[in-house]
Amino acid sequence: MSLFITLEGPEGSGKTSAIKLVREALEQMGHEIIMTREPGGTPISEQIRNVILDKSNTAMDSRTEALLYAASRRQHLVEKIWPALKEGKIVFCDRYLDSSLSYQGHARGLGIDDILKVNEYATERTYPDITFLFDIDPELGLERINKNKDREVNRLDVEKLSFHQKVREGYLILSKRFPDRYIVIDASKPLEEVSSNVLKEILNRLGK
Ligand code: TYD
Repeated sequence: MSLFITLEGPEGSGKTSAIKLVREALEQMGHEIIMTREPGGTPISEQIRNVILDKSNTAMDSRTEALLYAASRRQHLVEKIWPALKEGKIVFCDRYLDSSLSYQGHARGLGIDDILKVNEYATERTYPDITFLFDIDPELGLERINKNKDREVNRLDVEKLSFHQKVREGYLILSKRFPDRYIVIDASKPLEEVSSNVLKEILNRLGK
């Protein structure tokens, strides 16, 4: 049974670390998993990612940014996500459509509905089966990032705290707008607890 699962949340929500443990557990049960991320996931999408996240691109217009994310997303779907779902795999995508709705639509003020329209075109209305929102107070999230010195700091990380607060607010709006696919996880809890909550929800969906 194929399943398209997306991981969303503000910076430092720990979604990438939490999902590593979930992946191991699912693989041990014999599921075939694909892990991928946005923006990126294929050579063309990674090239677009470099343009978007380059700290020297200070002249980047917000709509240009939104269109680049959508372009990267489309290429990623065509080359990687659609084929994997066709083969019956479980696809985990670290950020997808809802990052654009929350960051560009809500936090940058372009409007959730307009960004949704652009993305409906880009994705041909491919929505995730489950979207995990790793919800955390951005102050705590940014504190975690600053502790993790190995992590590269990108153009969006250096935004002000108020921007990250809007990102969180955007996600919470989306969780109410799309309640059928959204599962909100308290990401301030310890990593093992967060992972086990995510795993429980997936097993539930798989009927196990
Ligand atoms: P990345 O280093 O992958 O961040 P993270 O580890 O937090 O996922 O950088 C991706 C950045 O791009 C992140 O700040 C969120 C942002 N983003 C958007 O603004 N819109 C989008 O559509 C996507 C996919 C990401």
